[in-house]
Amino acid sequence: MCGIVGYVGPKDCTEVLISALSKLEYRGYDSAGIAVFENGQISVEKAKGRLKNLEEKMEKGHRPKGHVGIGHTRWATHGEPSDINSHPHGNKRVSIVHNGIIENYIKIKNFLVDKGYEFVSETDTETVAKLLDFYYEGNPVETITRVLGEIEGSYALGIMFSEYPDTIYAARKDSPLIIGVGEGENFIASDVPAILKYTRHYYLLEQNEIAVITKDSVEIKGLHGEKIEKELQYAGWDEEAAEKGGYEHFMLKEIHEQPAVIKRTILPRIMDGMPFLEECGITSEMLKSFRKIYIVACGTAMHAGLVGKYVIERIAETEVIVDIASEFRYRNPLIGKEDLVMLISQSGETADTKAVLRLAKEKQATTISVVNVKGSSIARESDFVIYTHAGPEISVASTKAYSVQLSIMYLFAFQLAYAKGIIDEKRCRELTLELQEIPDIIEKALEIEEKCQFIGSRLMNADSLLYIGRGLDYALSMEGSLKLKEISYIHSEAYAAGELKHGTISLVTDEMPVIAVATQDDLLEKTISNIKEVKARGALVILICKETTDVSHDIADYQVKVPVAEDILMPMAAAVPMQLIAYYTSVLRGCDVDKPRNLAKSVTVE
Ligand code: M6R
Repeated sequence: MCGIVGYVGPKDCTEVLISALSKLEYRGYDSAGIAVFENGQISVEKAKGRLKNLEEKMEKGHRPKGHVGIGHTRWATHGEPSDINSHPHGNKRVSIVHNGIIENYIKIKNFLVDKGYEFVSETDTETVAKLLDFYYEGNPVETITRVLGEIEGSYALGIMFSEYPDTIYAARKDSPLIIGVGEGENFIASDVPAILKYTRHYYLLEQNEIAVITKDSVEIKGLHGEKIEKELQYAGWDEEAAEKGGYEHFMLKEIHEQPAVIKRTILPRIMDGMPFLEECGITSEMLKSFRKIYIVACGTAMHAGLVGKYVIERIAETEVIVDIASEFRYRNPLIGKEDLVMLISQSGETADTKAVLRLAKEKQATTISVVNVKGSSIARESDFVIYTHAGPEISVASTKAYSVQLSIMYLFAFQLAYAKGIIDEKRCRELTLELQEIPDIIEKALEIEEKCQFIGSRLMNADSLLYIGRGLDYALSMEGSLKLKEISYIHSEAYAAGELKHGTISLVTDEMPVIAVATQDDLLEKTISNIKEVKARGALVILICKETTDVSHDIADYQVKVPVAEDILMPMAAAVPMQLIAYYTSVLRGCDVDKPRNLAKSVTVE
């Protein structure tokens, strides 16, 4: 959470920082602030709320002029969103922006208070700023190194010292940071989209590294002062990929990108019509050797793992344990070196998922990550990485990242099933071909957009609703429900349809719409019975089913018919109306679709 940026170069620094921050607002938008060297002094401007508040404030008041500076967009952890808690923090000598959490900040604060320091904010970050000031004796790198030795927790830091007005400093541990490399100008940023307007070249700052950045040079050092050489990275996608491209919201654009990004993700992993995870170093021999498979992730990524479980268990007859990372890591998981732990993460920076990865490595399990952001911590630290090629996902609500994660779950299941001899080559080819047809099926599913908009108009005034389904439809319902609640603020729960009558059905009235997902032939009759139960209690029912499903019209108030794929692949097609219904409900309610309240795209805190 939080996005940090920095600039050194000939351009108007305030303009560059604001532009870069606007690409990082998905990481948090509780407040924004910048610090710029102006006439040799650090000039700070900050404002609570969205970046536009800061821009408006600067338009009416003071807009710093200079060529070197740092900036921040905040997702509040310590201290409420307010002007005073906004970053940058510091004083006349030192100014910093921070993404992460300083776990021992109270101890440091007490130490500094004893030394006579006064604190104005409730943030953990201010303690780092003041500690830098306390140790500073004229050598920034020495000071930073000393402070890094004392702070515990996670951080990506952008730092300015007033005595060095041509330089910004950066350091990181457990929060992402890149250094953008331009011509006669350099940048720091939490994520690549922030710098794409200016350069596509960047370095990845690794754990415990410190960078010294001027307009003409980037010097990277380790904690013992050793110089570190880095390979320059190149961002394959351009700024346009991170723009709305004519759509009203990023979320809608990203929903529509799904056919293309699924193709981009699966094609390199299919060879002669067979799944080919060898492309990522994952051999069939290795796959069949695991005793147990764990899939661990958070939120939408965990929902993709749930679909993976159903598919792997059904096709590859292999038990899969799926868990939420924040639970898994604290419950003494019984993993060992014979097991596979698969981590799924769009950002590759989710704190809990990263902690599970480290735990799995400690326990000597093999780790495979399914990650979208190239070079992110989870990708780098896992034994094998299967990159999804969704491109930048800007909307906080995940859509295309989910689809590409699903596509990898399928390829994995098919390769495992074939490796174990559960399916023969003919069936494996058939399934792989079916998967290759999914982009076209999704293209067709996107044609039901208008119907989904209409369904949104029927849901927009609800206070609460239920999603129900069985098997794969239940796994998909969980994602549909999350999508709806996170962007429309309507309370919603997903229930296994057969479980309703064990308690939850008492909530069902004519004021509780129910979205029933029934795409699995073998479970259709059972789900229909559950639909009748809620219909009998007055619920408005929306049925999402295959276009070939022939059920009487009075089963549901509305039927949303989805183009047909093989049953096991139906979650990929049926995800589309779920996403569109959530999207239009949110639009109709006037919510901020791409930036729902209280959320951030990358959750780098526990
Ligand atoms: O970056 P990750 O995939 O690890 O993020 C995990 C969740 O925070 C994320 O999937 C979240 O649930 C979605 N953005 C919600 O749409």
